[in-house]
Amino acid sequence: MALSQGIPESVIDAIRQQTDLVSLVGEYLTLEKRGKDLVGLCPFHHEKTPSFTVSPDKQLFYCFGCGASGNVFSFIMKLENLTFPEAARLLAARAGIRIPERSKAPAGQDSVKEKLYAMNLLAARYYHHQLINTAGGKKALEYLRERGIGRAASEMFMLGYAPEGWDNLKSFFVKKGYSEQLLIKAGLVTPREKGSGCYDRFRNRLIFPIMNIGGKVVGFGGRTLEEGGTAGPKYLNSPETAVFEKGTVLYGLNLARDAIRREKTAVVVEGYTDVIAAHQAGIKNVVASQGTALTAAQARLLRAQAETVVIAYDADSAGENATWRGLKILQDAGCFVRVAELPAGSDPDSLIRTGGVAAFEKLLKSARYLLEYQLDILRRRYNPAEPEGRRRYMEEVLGLLSQVSNRPEQDFYLKKLAEDVGVSEVVLRAELSKRCQKGRGVNNLPVKDQTNNIDRLEINPAEKMLISLMLQENELINLARQALKLEDFEHDTRKVVEAIWSLEEKCGAVSGEMLIDLFADAQLHALITGLATDPSLQELDAEQAKRAADDCIDKIKQRKLARRRQELLRKLKDMKLNDQARILLREQWQMITGSNRSPYRSGGGEDFNG
Ligand code: UTP
Ligand code: MN
Repeated sequence: MALSQGIPESVIDAIRQQTDLVSLVGEYLTLEKRGKDLVGLCPFHHEKTPSFTVSPDKQLFYCFGCGASGNVFSFIMKLENLTFPEAARLLAARAGIRIPERSKAPAGQDSVKEKLYAMNLLAARYYHHQLINTAGGKKALEYLRERGIGRAASEMFMLGYAPEGWDNLKSFFVKKGYSEQLLIKAGLVTPREKGSGCYDRFRNRLIFPIMNIGGKVVGFGGRTLEEGGTAGPKYLNSPETAVFEKGTVLYGLNLARDAIRREKTAVVVEGYTDVIAAHQAGIKNVVASQGTALTAAQARLLRAQAETVVIAYDADSAGENATWRGLKILQDAGCFVRVAELPAGSDPDSLIRTGGVAAFEKLLKSARYLLEYQLDILRRRYNPAEPEGRRRYMEEVLGLLSQVSNRPEQDFYLKKLAEDVGVSEVVLRAELSKRCQKGRGVNNLPVKDQTNNIDRLEINPAEKMLISLMLQENELINLARQALKLEDFEHDTRKVVEAIWSLEEKCGAVSGEMLIDLFADAQLHALITGLATDPSLQELDAEQAKRAADDCIDKIKQRKLARRRQELLRKLKDMKLNDQARILLREQWQMITGSNRSPYRSGGGEDFNG
């Protein structure tokens, strides 16, 4: 379960104990005292007023602006873009703690990853050499020239050429002592379907090395040089490997990162060549999602660097669909989204080639605001001039507006909707507030910010409070364990409670700081940080805390009973009882509850959530 990957627990503990979060953070940003905590400008998103908060007592940080949270390890992992073992090594060195040799050596996952990175880099250099220096690479160079991709860009993006033939790259690597098995792991060769052996994955293709934000080569895209031929898809990409997961990288981010930070804006395009054309034209805050709709992981990468994201996808229906799906994901990640609509049949690369950089710049400047774009697309899709189209258009737009938290903005578009469908604003407003209420409900935490992940986990308040109390007052862990079963907790909290209970068994003590290292999930990090630092519980003395815990336990039990009762009622209702059975059941119900409410009339709609 641990992320420590071969580094002994005792070393991790030592690092944790000897690294003070406040001084660590202080090396990167200026902190000011505010009450018991310290605050500063968040290094993970752009802001003007400090919302990045460090708790010296708990050794945890939390940003009220972007939801980033964690302990010393998560801080350094996020900031320096490191894996857990890498972060542990850095902090160990800083604290003067020696990590035993054996944990650095092979066997572990970590060393495989490092090998794959090294192999990918070697492969990228090999392909690049083929492009620049060999006779075989000539036609690829010529192809690049025709497409207007110059020498400087080829160097910057380390473009390459995979020669014709089945085992050029393979023999190059084998001669250097790499096994076929490792080559398969790296995705550089493909195992034969029948028999043993393998062959080069990329043959006679232009090669685009794909790098992660830190500039490490994680995979490749290979473009065919024989369009319309029988040589497979236009672009062939690396398979998933230990270092390459589709949808977690943005092509070009390593080169675009500084410009994105500077301009607080990232432009997302679809293709490798779009990124290269833009960079070559001097527009450097451009990255590619590589042909698919954006994923949540990519959106988080963007959010960490940019406030605004401009989508500039190909002007075809695939592009439109991908845009639409990407919008919600970006919005959920807390990005401010705009959409640039390209002229029909073009992509950024072709636009720059035909219209020059000015055409692309103009397009980006005129990018539409998210809702305006969405309304436009829906208007085109449904035609509100017809009754059926009008109804569906209205439904969809109200759905979108119910997610807009900014009231003036909501009002503005509500007016537009009213004009579009010829329905009065008052009526639409009523419809909208119905939706907004439905949307809430599950939990009524205040929504601090779009990016606040915790608000998206559906968590029962009593469970949350009990976790807080257990972290605060470790004695209460036993109390809870005796009174409740793991199954009594809901899905997201169950994982956390399970970890608390097992940590307590193992170490005898549990803190939010220790707990966090057991999870990789950012939402759970935020949850745990929030719960471990809940200010409303800090003032309780032991006696009050115990009473509060008893209270939570009661509520959780009651809710379990209520769920069971509802289930029974539902089953009974489905049973088509005869009248006599009904009368008996009603009498029994009244005896239990002392009420006159019939279980049938109330339809199971009682509020059991108390
Ligand atoms: P496009 O088809 O728009 O290609 O796909 P492109 O980037 O404009 O390339 P050129 O100009 O025709 O050479 C956009 C992106 O989708 C991914 C690639 O990342 C590509 O850059 N893609 C496309 C694939 O992964 N496989 C494919 O077969 C096609
Ligand atoms: Mn394209």
